[in-house]
Amino acid sequence: MFSCVGKNVPRKDGAAKVIGEVQYIDDIKILDCWYGAVVRSEIPYGKIKNIKYDPSFDWQKVATCDWRDIPGKNATIFLSEDQRILAQDIVMHVGEAIVLVAAPTKELAQDAKRHVKIEYDELQPVLNIEESKKLKSVIAGEDNILVKYLIEKGDAKKGLLSADHIIEGEYRTGFHEHAYIETQGMAAIHRADGGLTVMGSMQCPFYVLKTLKSIFNVDETKVNVVQTTMGGAFGGKEDYPSLLGTYVALLAKKSGHAVKIVYSRDEDILVTTKRHPSIVTHKTGVKKDGTITAMEIDVAFDGGAYSTMSPVVLSRGLIHSSGPYRCDNVIARAACYATNNVPTGAYRGFGAPQVFFALESHIDKVAEKIGMNPYEFRLKNCVRIGDTLSTTQLLKESVAAERCLKEAASESSFEKKWKSYEKIKASGAKTARTKKGIGLSLYMHGGAFTGSGEAIMKTEAGLRLDAGGKVSVLMGCTDMGQGATTVIPQIAADALGISYERISCVSPDTDIVPDSGPTVASRVTMVIGSVMEKCAIGFKDKLLNFAVAKFSIKKGELKISDDAIFSGNKKIADFSSIADEYLKANGELKIIERYHLPPGINWDATTHRGDAYPAYSWAADVAEVTVDVDTFEVSVDKMTIAVDPGKAVNPILVEGQMEGGTLQALGWGILENAVYDKGRPVNTKFQNYIIPTVMDTPEWKTIIAEEPLSTAPQGAKGIGELPLNGGAPAIANAIYNAIGVRINDLPITPEKLFEAGKNETNDQHK
Ligand code: MOS
Repeated sequence: MFSCVGKNVPRKDGAAKVIGEVQYIDDIKILDCWYGAVVRSEIPYGKIKNIKYDPSFDWQKVATCDWRDIPGKNATIFLSEDQRILAQDIVMHVGEAIVLVAAPTKELAQDAKRHVKIEYDELQPVLNIEESKKLKSVIAGEDNILVKYLIEKGDAKKGLLSADHIIEGEYRTGFHEHAYIETQGMAAIHRADGGLTVMGSMQCPFYVLKTLKSIFNVDETKVNVVQTTMGGAFGGKEDYPSLLGTYVALLAKKSGHAVKIVYSRDEDILVTTKRHPSIVTHKTGVKKDGTITAMEIDVAFDGGAYSTMSPVVLSRGLIHSSGPYRCDNVIARAACYATNNVPTGAYRGFGAPQVFFALESHIDKVAEKIGMNPYEFRLKNCVRIGDTLSTTQLLKESVAAERCLKEAASESSFEKKWKSYEKIKASGAKTARTKKGIGLSLYMHGGAFTGSGEAIMKTEAGLRLDAGGKVSVLMGCTDMGQGATTVIPQIAADALGISYERISCVSPDTDIVPDSGPTVASRVTMVIGSVMEKCAIGFKDKLLNFAVAKFSIKKGELKISDDAIFSGNKKIADFSSIADEYLKANGELKIIERYHLPPGINWDATTHRGDAYPAYSWAADVAEVTVDVDTFEVSVDKMTIAVDPGKAVNPILVEGQMEGGTLQALGWGILENAVYDKGRPVNTKFQNYIIPTVMDTPEWKTIIAEEPLSTAPQGAKGIGELPLNGGAPAIANAIYNAIGVRINDLPITPEKLFEAGKNETNDQHK
């Protein structure tokens, strides 16, 4: 019998990408296409006094739009609707769009843009979490808090009183740029029927559709959204395309031409969303034997100028803030603060990397305080089946914290190396210019939408039979490079009993595919994979009923397997011939099903209590580093990652996800320093915003430790975001093991190490 899940079948999109045949939005030739440009705020906060169109410029040659050209609601439609498409009376951040222009050439569009002058009454901006907390200006509600939550389990106060030691720490992270290779780009094209097609690089066509319907006050018959091949997204194309899509659509309506905008790298870094900067504090009670008696955690995020995705990013951050540890007494508070920075949004990990940098740095400090090594302490405290997390979610199955920890540690000889580097450090010997260190992190990531999200969503996906026994997957989810259009056909192939080569995904167009919910939250493999298995049941049933009638055989004996229909062990027809006959007789075979959360999942959003996710994926990282004690440069030599994906649908893609995500975490951890000056990013080029290249890439060892989930397709859970949670703290812990300097503020630059290292073995916050 064929089986496809678990095999390294080639990516469906691989060959065309490798040979350069694929067309990205910038490559796609559009007839009669004009180019758009955006006039943006130069200041972080102020009133718009006047918009001046220079009379010396010939405005007849171009089209312009401002907020008055929006017939419907001037807002992006997410959980909140506070973000304006085009500024009206006030600007809230540098780069906020005020006026749109379109022209037959890019040069003319840029020229027109330069002839629009905005006059402002500047207001006092709020530029970071502290200024927002102190109410330097009040820019949102009465307290600048966009959203806040609380988790309470047991009695943290009592827990702290019963501790032998209390260890405190504060941890900070900054902006983090997605740095997808393909910048954001969209186009709007007039349809023959008078409607509009908006196409481009995006994770969530149905999100873009929602906002378009709302700004034009139309239904889905007047506008459709098409995803084009994406050169990376990492969460950055979850929310932002809902803005860019409206720009090209508004300009197309106004000019009467098709309009395209593809951002330069500068503009992309200037205006698109970033990972939320954070300040996380921990107060942990621990007994001498290593039992954690209480955790008190405060999570503060910088949400930027508008709320957008922050309510869900913050919620995920809070839920993950106490991590994979047993603790009966937890109090965790989280707040997202408004600032006059560019709105922060979705970025691979979605709030979890920040809290794991804090937690996994802090756990090492706690272990050190009571004289346990980082491995021993984690092994003693990590959750097992039967334990509960801070939300009181009972872990019933598919829990691999202990297994991942053990496998990563043993593969890398963690304890042996850690002890030997500690000894070298303690001896104070300065014999070599470089010192080695090893560090550990243990982490998880909840798969799919938080809480009731998946229940509210009404996710749909389907299977359609095509001529010649081909099958199309109909889903609104997209491939941004993660492999969705490969692993979903793999799952469908096994469920249908046909070969992988027969199945492909229809490229997402909101007119053609059902709304499968957004491509986010590590949800597609588990959620859409489950729907595929459901669809396959109905699909096979229809074909088998047809065969029963045709061959007068009892249905119980029939099955589809190996691209054929079998009666018992006897092959009675090829899949392709039955398929064609079925289509001839019935016209169409199309099954659409809906995702339902597995039974027994309960979540209370008001108390943040219950089953936050249908399942968690688990992992442990071991980082091995070399630190140059003269220059304080850090090189990461090797990363050993043990990961539980439930079931690795395509093992090489799992390895790719773990390596790629960990490399992004490495960049965030030690290289990427997003410098802001009065709300304006200073380093907006890859020459000065330093992301990891192949020169910074460590040796990889990924161990796949499968703990299947009974309610998932062949046990498979998501792993897209998971690797970003673990890399940075493992590297921070390795640096501490090497030179005794702990930096609690990412990125860990040579400059910070130098300053802190002046007084060696000086922990900033000890
Ligand atoms: Mo994501 S970071 O849930 O696109």
